[in-house]
Amino acid sequence: MSQTAAHFDREAAEYPTHIGTDYIQARKWALVDAHAPGTGRVADIGAATGRHALALAARPLDIVAIDPSQQMLAQLCRLADTRDQDGTILPCAAALPALPMTGATFDLIYCFSTLLLLSPQDQEAALAEMAGLLRPGGSLIVDIAGSRSLAIRYWHRHYRRRGLSGVFGHSAPRTREMLEQNGLKIISIEAHGVLSQFLLAPGLQRFPGLIRRVRGSETRPGWDAVISCRLPALAERWYVVARRPETV
Ligand SMILES: C[S@@+](CC[C@H](N)C(=O)[O-])C[C@H]1O[C@@H](n2cnc3c(N)ncnc32)[C@H](O)[C@@H]1O
Repeated sequence: MSQTAAHFDREAAEYPTHIGTDYIQARKWALVDAHAPGTGRVADIGAATGRHALALAARPLDIVAIDPSQQMLAQLCRLADTRDQDGTILPCAAALPALPMTGATFDLIYCFSTLLLLSPQDQEAALAEMAGLLRPGGSLIVDIAGSRSLAIRYWHRHYRRRGLSGVFGHSAPRTREMLEQNGLKIISIEAHGVLSQFLLAPGLQRFPGLIRRVRGSETRPGWDAVISCRLPALAERWYVVARRPETV
C-alpha cells in the first residue's frame, strides 16, 4: 500500500478536481448527485483531491474523505479552505479493505476509479467492508473494471511500470454477485468504455473532435454510451448503484 500511496502522493499537485468534461466522467458525479441524501453521513473512498467530495460539501452532509495518500488529502483540505468549505469534509488517511471505522452508519458510500487498484480478492473484501458500513436504506456507488476489456491491459501495464501491482477487473455476472452476496440490492448498472477504450491507441489523442464524439460532453452521451449500452459485457467499467434494503 505504501507504493500506492507514494505514487498518488506524487500525482496530488496535478490531480483534476473538475467533476468531468465528458459524459463518461460526468456520469460519476451525476450518480452521486442523484443518490446523495438530503442530510446524513457520506464516505468518499479513494477521494483524491476531492473531485466529488468538494462538490457535495455544498450540502448539509457529514462527509468523510478516505484516501491512503496524505498529499491528496492535504490538497483536498487546501482546496476546501479556498472555497470556504474548511471543516466540512473530514479527511481520513486509510485504505480499503481495512478501514478504521465500524458500524452501519453511512447513508451513502461511493468509490470511483479505486477498486481496480486492488487485487480481485481485496476488491471482494472491500465491497463486503463498504456494504457493512451502510445503514439500512443506504446506497453504495462503485465502478468495477471489466476483466475482458482491452483498456484493462493498457492500465495494468501503465501501473506496473510505475511500481504498482497493476489493475484488476471482474466479469459482469461476478460484479452483480459480489454486491448481492453482501445483502445489497442492485439499483442500476451502466456500462461505459466499450468504444472509448480504443482512444488509448497511439496517435488518436491528436483528434480532439473524435474524442469529443466518442466520449460525449458533460451533458450529452457520445458514441461510447450508445455502443456500451448495446454490448455491456465488454465494458471497460460498470458503474453500479446498490442499496442496503430497509429492515422490516
Ligand atoms: C485514480 S484516483 C481516483 C480519484 C477519484 N475517486 C476520482 O474518481 O477521480 C484513485 C485514488 O484512490 C486512492 N487509493 C488507492 N488505493 C486505495 C485503497 N486501497 N483504498 C482507498 N483509496 C485508495 C489513491 O490514493 C487515489 O487518490
